[in-house]
Amino acid sequence: MNRDELFKFYPESWYPLCLSSELKKGQSKLIKAFDNTLLVFRSKTNKVGAIKRFCPHMGTDLNRAKIIEDGPLCPFHFRQFNNHGKCTTIFGSDEIPTNAHTISLSIKEEVGIIFGYLGSKVKFDFPIFSRLEDQNLYTSSSVANYELKTPYQALLFNGFDTHHLDCIHSRTISEDVIIDSNNSFHLSADYAMKVLPNSLYDKFIRLINTKENVVRLDCYGGNFLSITLKDTRDNILITSLPIDQNNSRIFLTSISNPEKRLHKKLFQKLRLELTTFLGIEFLKPDIEIIEGMQPKYRGLYAKHDSSVIKFWQYWDKLPRDKEFQNSLFN
Ligand code: FES
Ligand SMILES: [Fe+2]
Repeated sequence: MNRDELFKFYPESWYPLCLSSELKKGQSKLIKAFDNTLLVFRSKTNKVGAIKRFCPHMGTDLNRAKIIEDGPLCPFHFRQFNNHGKCTTIFGSDEIPTNAHTISLSIKEEVGIIFGYLGSKVKFDFPIFSRLEDQNLYTSSSVANYELKTPYQALLFNGFDTHHLDCIHSRTISEDVIIDSNNSFHLSADYAMKVLPNSLYDKFIRLINTKENVVRLDCYGGNFLSITLKDTRDNILITSLPIDQNNSRIFLTSISNPEKRLHKKLFQKLRLELTTFLGIEFLKPDIEIIEGMQPKYRGLYAKHDSSVIKFWQYWDKLPRDKEFQNSLFN
C-alpha cells in the first residue's frame, strides 16, 4: 500500500461510533466517520447496528427509515434490514435476492460506548482490560468525549511520545521505554516517569497517589489505548474515531472490577469519576497543542523519538480492508 492509500484507508479496528446514551430504542443516528457517514441504530428489540447509509435497492437515504423491531424499514419499497445488514423482508415477495443485503460493521457495546469493527471479518477480538478479573463484569465512570480538530492518531501516539512528557507534563522518564507487541494489531509501551511538583495538579497527584508513575500502554488497532498505572486499580481507556483526515472524536473512561458492598460501590464510583477527570486534566495541554496538527514522520529523530517512530511503523503495517471500505461508502 502506498503512503496515500495508508491515509485513505483506515486500519481495521474497533472504533467508538458514539455513546450508548446517544441511541435510545427505535432511534437512528448518522455518524460522521472515516471521511463519510454511517447509519447507526438501536432496534426496538435493543439490537445495535451500523450499516451503509443508503438502501442497497435504489439508494434511498436510510436516515429517513423508521426503526422497527429488528432495524430500519426503508421508506421507499418497505424492505426491512436487521442489525447485521441482512434484508429480512421484501414487501410483496417471498424471495430475497442476494443483492438485497447491505453492508454492516460488527458491533460491541461496552463501557457506555458503541464500537464498530471496520472490516468484513473481525480479525482481533475486542481488547481486554488487564485489571478485570472477568471481562463481562465491570464498573466504569461516565465517558468524557470531545471533538478535536486533529487527526485521530494524534492523541494516541502522544502516549508513546515520551519526549513531550518532559516538555509539557513535568514528567521525567526514569527507566528505559520497553516497546513490545503481541501481534500485528497490538503495540505496548512500559515506562516509569517521575512526577515533578510543578503544578497544583502534580502536587495533588503526588499527594493522593505517587511520586513516580509506572505506566503500561496497550494500543490495539491504532486507535484503542488501554492505560494501566501501577499503584491504581483501574484501566483507563482512550479511544478515538476518525471523523475525517483532520477531525476526530475522542472518548475517555475508567474501568474497574465491581465492588459488591453499597458503600464501597459509591466510593468506587467517585474514584472512577475522579480518575477520568484527572485523565482529561492531564490531556488538556495536549488537546490545545495538537489542534490543527499535521503529523509528519520525516522530522523524527531516533534519539528522542524512538517510541513514536515505533508507533508509526506499527500504524503503517496495520491491516486495512480496502474492499470493505469501498463497498461501505461507494
Ligand atoms: S430503495 Fe429501499 S426498498 Fe427500495
Ligand atoms: Fe501528553
